Amino acid sequence: MPAPPAAPADRLGRPLGELRLSLTDRCNLRCGYCMPREVFGPGFRFLPRSEILTFEEIVRVAGIARDLGVRKLRLTGGEPLLRTDLPELVAMLARLGGLELALTTNGALLGELAGPLARAGLDRVNVSLDALDEATFRRMSDSALSPATVLEGIEAASRAGLAPVKVNCVVRRGINEHAVLDLVRRFRRTGHELRFIEFMDVGNSNGWRLEEVVPAAEILRTIGEVYPLEPAGGGGEADVAKRWRLADGSGVVGVVASVTRPFCSGCNRLRISAEGRAYRCLFAAEGLDLRGPLRAGETDVRIRDLLAGFWRLREERYSELRTAATPRSSSSKIEMSYIGG
Ligand code: GTP
Ligand code: 5AD
Ligand code: SF4
Ligand code: SF4
Repeated sequence: MPAPPAAPADRLGRPLGELRLSLTDRCNLRCGYCMPREVFGPGFRFLPRSEILTFEEIVRVAGIARDLGVRKLRLTGGEPLLRTDLPELVAMLARLGGLELALTTNGALLGELAGPLARAGLDRVNVSLDALDEATFRRMSDSALSPATVLEGIEAASRAGLAPVKVNCVVRRGINEHAVLDLVRRFRRTGHELRFIEFMDVGNSNGWRLEEVVPAAEILRTIGEVYPLEPAGGGGEADVAKRWRLADGSGVVGVVASVTRPFCSGCNRLRISAEGRAYRCLFAAEGLDLRGPLRAGETDVRIRDLLAGFWRLREERYSELRTAATPRSSSSKIEMSYIGG
């Protein structure tokens, strides 16, 4: 087999470094900022089983991405823990070698699955948790799940060695702003890293309005008034979160400011949907079909060249352009639950 080509850089000089791979477009929650029930109700057509990549196809794609320079693989959804036999897939991916294996989950099923996933070779998890009080959590997730179940999942992950656990909170003006200090208080001295995320205009169905975005600077001010903060550093150029240390040494918080301080210039992330389409940006409308070539018997070399060519032509930087233009956005973007954040 010929030697793999050098890791490709895109048109803006950004190398390929991370693959975010969606395992399913389904989820057991209905967070209004991602899968509003009015859109993702009983009549919604999710991908049928035959259209989503099999474990063997996923492992092939991951191996090809690794050969193109990917070093971090993040499994996403929808909700990735809904995928049957997930630990088996993680074990298959771990056998590939050369990849950090991470996963982003809503934590509902993490209590049962953290141990098996860690034993299979998963390295890290990020868990979404938008409030600690039952009423706000239920309002954010539009579900009957209790935040206590998510907290148990986080502890199970930590015990299983999936550390540090990162806890993600999307902040929406007027709905869960009070969760910011609740969560900081709860996660100080736990070793888990808390991140606050600006509500983004992903997809076309979450009714995004700029007025609902709580800017990261405001979130940091709210925290800083109670727990003084100092810059923590430690993140790489490609990281989405800017990190701050509580000055008393009791913890670290991060902010993901993709609306007010876009980070496209360091973006090294390729995304692949559950049905095997590759996307160069979270806000993309067009993807590259990989499932067709995979199922048509194309060789790994051919698929690697397709993907490398696709990456080389990349010039997407949606968040930077959004900030430069108006907050109105086009209506043909892919959905968060389809591509996994
Ligand atoms: P770490 O490896 O732990 O830093 O993970 P991560 O923060 O990259 O992944 P996670 O799935 O926890 O995502 C946190 C938030 O960042 C979510 O709201 C994602 O949608 C958002 N995010 C991740 N990557 C990108 C990106 O490339 N662009 C934008 N705009 N948002 C992103
Ligand atoms: N804006 C910001 N973050 C979002 N997430 C889902 N939808 C949005 C949105 N519209 C987050 C989830 C999860 C991660 C994968 O993306 O809360 O933490
Ligand atoms: Fe499900 Fe995560 Fe979307 Fe909420 S944000 S609906 S938990 S995929
Ligand atoms: Fe990357 Fe697109 Fe997000 Fe910018 S908006 S950081 S290019 S995924």
